[in-house]
Amino acid sequence: MLSVVVLISGSGSNLLALLKAAENPLYPVKIVAVGSDKDAPGLEHAELFEIDTFVVQPERFSDRNQWGQALLANVLHHQPDLVVLAGFMKILPEGFVSALSGKLINTHPSLLPEFKGAHAVRDALQAGASKTGVTIHFVDAGVDTGPVIVQEELQIIPGESEAQLHERIKEIERALLVRTVENIALGKIK
Ligand code: GRF
Repeated sequence: MLSVVVLISGSGSNLLALLKAAENPLYPVKIVAVGSDKDAPGLEHAELFEIDTFVVQPERFSDRNQWGQALLANVLHHQPDLVVLAGFMKILPEGFVSALSGKLINTHPSLLPEFKGAHAVRDALQAGASKTGVTIHFVDAGVDTGPVIVQEELQIIPGESEAQLHERIKEIERALLVRTVENIALGKIK
């Protein structure tokens, strides 16, 4: 059983997909805790599934390294084998990333290295791209730069809004994340 901590900042639909998958005893993953940088709406999913939650707000610390250390302490308290950034919208300090090296993955709504950063869906539309997609990757010290684990693409429909496109991306993203975390648990991805 792979022990997983999930970090979120938003609605947590990717988290919910993992929580639902982990309800199946055949799914080799246990979500042990869910953390956030704020009082994110998605924390409610964890509470409904009776999973521990923690919130570590950067504003409460004098610098981001101290925040990173406090967040790390909360994560490590749960002794995870893997930490999943599922819509976690803060850039993590290097100390946090290096302490979890090889155990930290992120899901991102574009085909990296295209459209890094917080507005990947908007940026793809503004660039007039004909396709975009999802990337799940290991996290390194850069922003959306770590080694790619898996990608899935989708065609952009001319005229669709950012919200419509993001929702179609997230449908793919949720399934890909569930499958990828399973493959890590099964040792198919190192
Ligand atoms: C996802 O598309 C994630 O890749 C991006 O933010 C979205 C989070 O969605 N960074 P949710 O909170 O899991 O619904």
